[in-house]
Amino acid sequence: LRRIRDESGPVLPIEFPGEVKAWVVTSYETVNSVLTNDDILYRKNIAHFTALHDGTIPDDWPIRQLIGGDHLLVLDGAEHRRLRSLINRAFTPGRVAGLAPRIQEMTDELLDRLADETGVVDLVKAFTEPLPVAVICELFGVPEGVERNQIREWSNVLLSHTATPEEATETGAALVGYLAAFIERKRGAPGDDLTTGLIRAQEDDGDRLSDDEMMWILWLVLIAGHETTVHLIANAVIALCSDRAQLALAQERDAWAQVVEEALRSRNSVVGVLFRYPQQDVRLGEATIPAGEPIMIGIAGTGTDPATYGEHAGRFDITREDQEPHLGFGRGPHFCLGAPLARLECRIALATLFGRYPELELAIKEDEIGYTSSFITEGPLALPVVL
Ligand code: HEM
Repeated sequence: LRRIRDESGPVLPIEFPGEVKAWVVTSYETVNSVLTNDDILYRKNIAHFTALHDGTIPDDWPIRQLIGGDHLLVLDGAEHRRLRSLINRAFTPGRVAGLAPRIQEMTDELLDRLADETGVVDLVKAFTEPLPVAVICELFGVPEGVERNQIREWSNVLLSHTATPEEATETGAALVGYLAAFIERKRGAPGDDLTTGLIRAQEDDGDRLSDDEMMWILWLVLIAGHETTVHLIANAVIALCSDRAQLALAQERDAWAQVVEEALRSRNSVVGVLFRYPQQDVRLGEATIPAGEPIMIGIAGTGTDPATYGEHAGRFDITREDQEPHLGFGRGPHFCLGAPLARLECRIALATLFGRYPELELAIKEDEIGYTSSFITEGPLALPVVL
């Protein structure tokens, strides 16, 4: 995506096999204008995904739920506003802030297990991967133990790039079944958690979330909040280990919040590719995009765009004083619902990790790290370090 931006300009038309045309947008300015244009929607306009219609992707595959389901991420306008407003009643800043002590405890517990390690440790397996799913379970009110382990396993299969379609289907169905039953259980045994908050959320006019809507909210939060956070923590660790002066500065100034923002800008876990569809012909840069043709948003191109962030845009630097806030959590109506939680969690994770292990270093060269092969998220598959 960064290369497309530099070599082909901010708006590139591409053709997929089967005559489908799409437009890849990669500069800060074009991505920003797509995300904030009321005429460019997320609409469940999945007509161009031929594989969804020609039988290649069976009805019960989870990918269908992600791009064609009835959840927040693919709704627009009044339907979207209604859901977000009901969710906001339960997913409050107070609830997120209240999770801080538990996030700290869970971070400490994971790191305690590494106390005796003297050799090479895979930080993804031992730390960055288990933490976010544990935090989401805490948020939902899922009890510790068997159920959490089960959710973690399901979530890993759903996000895996190597699971077979059959595995994904079976796992998707198991997760949906579990979440529906879990909501039912919470009705009888409420707690101080997001699920109970969603059950109680009600607008002044009496509008409430249905059981189905609640299930899809929990489902989406798990899908959207797990891998993104795993990779962001890991990407920040790589950036800091590759530039010890930045690490020293972060420690000296206790600047972990800046580390998180800088990782979101220059090494984000969400690289793209978010789809949108113009409702009318739209002019973007030099191009006119006809109504209905898919626009693919390359988030990864925005944070490193020299036109916005200068010639050293690609450099990880926590002392930057940019005028333009990054687009790492998106912008506009679909701005990341979990941004406050992700910020809090990544900050605690990094501060605690480097607080305990200030000498932590990569056990392999940076260019030997293997990354996910997804076009949505980017992060290391494994991160061998010496603590
Ligand atoms: C949406 C990034 C963590 C829940 C988004 C979007 C981005 C994003 C770029 C916008 C998608 C679009 O416009 O098409 C990230 C990053 C994260 C992160 C980089 C971690 C570092 C989380 C967490 C949660 C979460 C922890 C939940 C607890 C959501 C939801 C949406 C969303 C529900 C859809 C919002 C809507 O459509 O109204 N995220 N996210 N995310 N995110 Fe996050």
